[in-house]
Amino acid sequence: MSARIDELVEAMTLDEKIGQITQVDRSAITPEEVAEFGIGSILSGGGGNPDPNTPQTWRAMVDAYVDASRRSRLGVPILYGTDAVHGHSNVVGATVFPHNLALGAAGDPELVSRVARATAIETAATGARWAFAPMVAVPQDPRWGRTFECFGQDTDMVAELGAASVAGLQGTGPGIDVLACAKHFVADGGTTWGTTGGAQWVPWWVRAYGSPGWYLDQGDARIDETTLRAVHLPPYQAAVAEGVGSIMASYSSWNGQKVHAHRWLLTDLLKDELGFQGFVVSDYHAIDQVSPDYHDAVVRCLDAGVDMVMVPFDHARFRGTVRAAVEAGDLAVERLDDAVRRILRVKAAMGLLDGTAQPLPEPGVLGAPEHRALARQAAAAGAVLLTDRSGVLPLPADATVLLAGAGADDVGLACGGWTIEWAGGAGPVTPGSTIADGLAEHLGSRLLATGATAEDRGPLDGVTARIGVVVVHEPPYAEGLGDREHLTLEPEQGELVAAVAARVEQVVVVVLSGRPLALGPVIDLSDALVAAWWPGSEAAGIADVLVGAAPFTGTLPLPWPDGDLVSPSPAPGPAQPPRWLPGHGLVAGRSATG
Ligand code: GLC
Repeated sequence: MSARIDELVEAMTLDEKIGQITQVDRSAITPEEVAEFGIGSILSGGGGNPDPNTPQTWRAMVDAYVDASRRSRLGVPILYGTDAVHGHSNVVGATVFPHNLALGAAGDPELVSRVARATAIETAATGARWAFAPMVAVPQDPRWGRTFECFGQDTDMVAELGAASVAGLQGTGPGIDVLACAKHFVADGGTTWGTTGGAQWVPWWVRAYGSPGWYLDQGDARIDETTLRAVHLPPYQAAVAEGVGSIMASYSSWNGQKVHAHRWLLTDLLKDELGFQGFVVSDYHAIDQVSPDYHDAVVRCLDAGVDMVMVPFDHARFRGTVRAAVEAGDLAVERLDDAVRRILRVKAAMGLLDGTAQPLPEPGVLGAPEHRALARQAAAAGAVLLTDRSGVLPLPADATVLLAGAGADDVGLACGGWTIEWAGGAGPVTPGSTIADGLAEHLGSRLLATGATAEDRGPLDGVTARIGVVVVHEPPYAEGLGDREHLTLEPEQGELVAAVAARVEQVVVVVLSGRPLALGPVIDLSDALVAAWWPGSEAAGIADVLVGAAPFTGTLPLPWPDGDLVSPSPAPGPAQPPRWLPGHGLVAGRSATG
């Protein structure tokens, strides 16, 4: 195949080489332009969905771009990429698995691999052969809005689960099935609070979300090389050893230097020392942050070792800038050729250059019962029993149970960020089974699902029961939108717990969140406390552990702070001893850690 690749590079015009390293958002290009310019990749960013949003319309959308690329002069097909980070979660009807933090709490590489395999099948069924996953960051400060996308704070565990995810996505046979993308290289989880541009940096497409955000995300990792190598690098060594075909560069900086323009990191360390043979893709709009002079930004990032650029909008400007840089001698054509070769090598490994690529499953496989059953099993495995002071769990078989909390019966709140829309959102956003559905299945008429919420406690009036289950939650978010200085639970949710506690003998609190929260009075109000994280579209799995249909086996994948974090802390991480350490987790009254 290397002879074929050499032939292709030899045959390519300068513009075709430039087209091959160009990745464009589907909203900014037509299939005809893909054919005309020999574009190498198209992506759907978070929420980049066709309307209507169904597996079938997704497949038609992606096929249109792939078919067009085959009509280009040399017929090199595009790679279509999407953030299938917890299932193919952009698509209505897809199985939405628990986010990585829950999988880290489950701590089972085999489970992670099975989840990734099911994700690969559903992603490929829509024609997309590239998942921008797994995220293998090692988060140091839970106030980071991307903590939920991480497996946890133990570097070795992140490395093990990240490699399992790569194996599940890419397949363990010869060749690559769905391309994985370990991200974001490197130390994106080690930034210091307050070192991001903050509100003034936020680009137009985020201001629409109305949040300043960005205090940690995309900030500066002020750490020495020893720490970088010990804490943040091993997951990439494991992913490279597993044969990951793509790696995404991090928006963040290392000691004041943007990673996207950091040659020692992207080339000397990742490609030369680690021996990474695949290609480096930039993040969304990320090269623009490197320099106010776009020509300079393009040259510095490509020279540093970025191979494909997620432009993602003005592809004509990008392509023209690269052409001008080569013609001016600012960018060596050898660097361009190396980038093209890396991309073609991966496409060859996927069988895309010789017609041996895996056949695509049918779109009807999205949301398959066996995938939803796996998601429900994973939701149960990721639940962590933090306290069980009076042995109320598993719920007694003869007790009436009062259920409250907006998250009890809301698929969107159980799925969290990166679900249908970029930052996710409450409501029936996609089919699934909620905690209420699961409890109804197990308890039947013994369940009093009041529908009471923090906003409206009225449905509790006159209702009593022996046991109360209250689901509290953190509203969904994505990336820097989720950077929060105070991880405190909304006071009204604590008031709901108090209102329920006044009506029952024992109260179980379930926390739906992207990270540990400062729960304040809720801890003392609750007889049992369960961290459910963002369990996905089959949150009925949380009901399974509440009733004892599945055992509690989850343990904390990172510390649970004791109260609010002091901020802005001078260094990453909580400023006071945590309430619960990594590894903490009870098994219905006994310690899961022996
Ligand atoms: C986002 C994220 C990255 C994602 C990419 C495409 O900004 O940083 O994780 O894969 O853009 O959506």
